[in-house]
Amino acid sequence: MTGASEGFGRELARLIAADGFDLLVVARNESRLQDLAKELETEFAARVRIRSADLADANEQRALADELRETPNLAIVVNNAAFSLVDEFQELPIEGVQRMVALNLGALATLTHAALNNRAFRRGGILINVGSVGGSWPLPFDAIYSATKAAIDHFSAAIAYEIKKNPDIDVHVQVAKLGTVLSGWADRSMGSLNPGEEADKTIGWRSNEPASAARAIWRKTKRRGKLIVTDHWFARLSASFFGRFPSLGAALVYGTTAQELARRSRE
Ligand SMILES: NC(=O)c1ccc[n+]([C@@H]2O[C@H](COP(=O)([O-])OP(=O)(O)OC[C@H]3O[C@@H](n4cnc5c(N)ncnc54)[C@H](OP(=O)(O)O)[C@@H]3O)[C@@H](O)[C@H]2O)c1
Repeated sequence: MTGASEGFGRELARLIAADGFDLLVVARNESRLQDLAKELETEFAARVRIRSADLADANEQRALADELRETPNLAIVVNNAAFSLVDEFQELPIEGVQRMVALNLGALATLTHAALNNRAFRRGGILINVGSVGGSWPLPFDAIYSATKAAIDHFSAAIAYEIKKNPDIDVHVQVAKLGTVLSGWADRSMGSLNPGEEADKTIGWRSNEPASAARAIWRKTKRRGKLIVTDHWFARLSASFFGRFPSLGAALVYGTTAQELARRSRE
């Protein structure tokens, strides 16, 4: 599980541990991972290994991929780590743009490749790629994030098709398409163009708590049903509806109009 140190990933890790799985949890913040490991060991008697890694770094991606390929009894892989920087695209620092592509898409592809080359995983594994409603339509002021999440949808659908046609692989591919989840990420990313306002006040009823988002996704994943599942009714509605109205989509995600966001960005 990548991005397990906080937010949605942390809650999903708890549910997976509660169902009796041991975990390898990955993020940059080692002390948060240690806290999580203690919690899962105490509450669920899970064996938890932690790995502090910056998965925007290609070498660290490959080192983790090498380990994943050789992990015995690998059952579930969750590609959850991602981040976003919100502004007009040309105003973003280019290092941030490159890191977003490397983490949100590069790490996910590298770890998926490793998992599909793991013998145990090929015999019944579950691959959860965490997407976003922001990948279902073009999201102004979050253009590169939106592009990486759209790519996750296409990538996951394509490999799901390949797997279905391949008699040697039995893997359930799941895109967990989240709507607005009130994690630290929501404050960091969406709050950045809403200075002085807390994300949960701005996006209120359209949002979900990390624990309830994780419960919805894990329940649907265990059914091994549809490729794409959402965490919340508004996420399901917006994923299908807002494609034709990107400025409305931005307004609903950020709680203000796209024009107002553009003005704030230029201040
Ligand atoms: N929150 C939302 O509204 C929302 C909406 C749609 C989709 N999503 C998706 O849901 C997933 C989880 O989001 P969240 O809201 O739970 O975010 P979050 O609270 O910010 O958590 C992100 C996790 O990713 C890890 N991470 C970030 N950069 C990393 C890096 N370079 N290398 C390794 N790990 C890294 C973070 O840990 P460290 O900082 O310790 O590395 C953290 O554990 C993401 O894929 C996000 O795109 C979120």
